[in-house]
Amino acid sequence: MDSLAILVAAGSGERMGAGRPKAFLPLAGQPMLLRAATAFQAAPSVEAIIAVVPRAEIDSARALLATLPKLAAVVAGGARRQDSVAEGLRQVPAEFAGLVLVHDAARPLVEVATIEAVCAAARETGAALPVLALVDTVKRVREGAVQETLDRRELAAAQTPQGFRRELLVRAYADAERTGAVLTDEAMAVERLGIAVRAVSGTVRNRKLTTPDDLAWAEDLLMGEDRRGTGHARIGTGFDAHRLVAGRPLVLGGVRVEHARGLEGHSDGDCLVHAVCDALLGAAGAGDLGGRYPSDDPRWKDASSTVFLAEAAREVAERGYVVENVDATVIAEEPRLAPYTDRMRMRLSDCLRVPPDVVSVKAKSTDGLGPFGRGEGVAALATLLLKRR
Ligand code: CTP
Ligand code: MG
Repeated sequence: MDSLAILVAAGSGERMGAGRPKAFLPLAGQPMLLRAATAFQAAPSVEAIIAVVPRAEIDSARALLATLPKLAAVVAGGARRQDSVAEGLRQVPAEFAGLVLVHDAARPLVEVATIEAVCAAARETGAALPVLALVDTVKRVREGAVQETLDRRELAAAQTPQGFRRELLVRAYADAERTGAVLTDEAMAVERLGIAVRAVSGTVRNRKLTTPDDLAWAEDLLMGEDRRGTGHARIGTGFDAHRLVAGRPLVLGGVRVEHARGLEGHSDGDCLVHAVCDALLGAAGAGDLGGRYPSDDPRWKDASSTVFLAEAAREVAERGYVVENVDATVIAEEPRLAPYTDRMRMRLSDCLRVPPDVVSVKAKSTDGLGPFGRGEGVAALATLLLKRR
């Protein structure tokens, strides 16, 4: 019996306080929703994924999840979590007779083993969820006064994914809707019908990320794993070219170069800084320069491109990366750039906030070949390596 997973990501993330729905916040560089969806993509029992997101995020979610072959639908959620689950349920094809799993995108570190354990138990019993034993002594407290101590051995914290035979979940939801029951998870809907729900072992890693502290906890966890593993380096490449025109100053690598012509462009046209910036953003998986500073935005008219680079460097550092090294080549027939390359290195290292020996800048002519050889413009290439801090 195959499973279909509904990922609920339509909450606003009030308690995270990030000003954006939390499922779209990067966790060590990758949005939570993508991390959660990737786990379901990797789970053998799951055949399709339905993502439920805020209406305003439908397009961004489609783009984010586009590479996952199991993605079947992206739909808008509702006001409450249970409304979002109901929207997801409506997307399940009429002929589907397998298991429906419901998972919080706010649990991005769910393991494939947990997904499979829930599927196995739900195949057997019809309904299952992962739970985590409580480690603290638990009290019932009212208005600051302890009422009683509960027996911790009988209590557990409910996690997701929660899995059910499709007809059972649909019936339970219909009943909850009819009676106006407020649900905080799916198992509750099924329990109300007097049907047993099997509990399997959850994991600490599968914690729901609710507050900024939770996010920091997950970042630390992933970084620790990264350091121990080998996947801790990321490479990026950048390229840019601009036309040389009269009446503009020539700025390369943030350095003013004496020349009769300068680079055309909305900003200062500094193709070397642009190439380095794209290599940096590319290595971090953080988009590109054009997407961030569109050339039709009046704010960037004649702006110094070093501002873009410094800002991108700050953001990449916040994501937990350091620049290991960057190597750039400027392709220009004239003027001779060798006298300037040291200053360019200094300027670039300043923006990137790394020592100068981390940056290399080389200049090349093309023996008169092609548009750059004819002096029509200047191009630059950059390769950059990031490492986890
Ligand atoms: N969720 C949803 N639709 C809602 C509310 C919540 O799909 N109307 C999803 C959230 O996106 C999240 C999961 O349900 O993946 C668990 O909810 P919660 O952790 O409470 O997330 P938010 O509601 O986004 O956060 P907050 O309560 O702090 O606003
Ligand atoms: Mg909520």
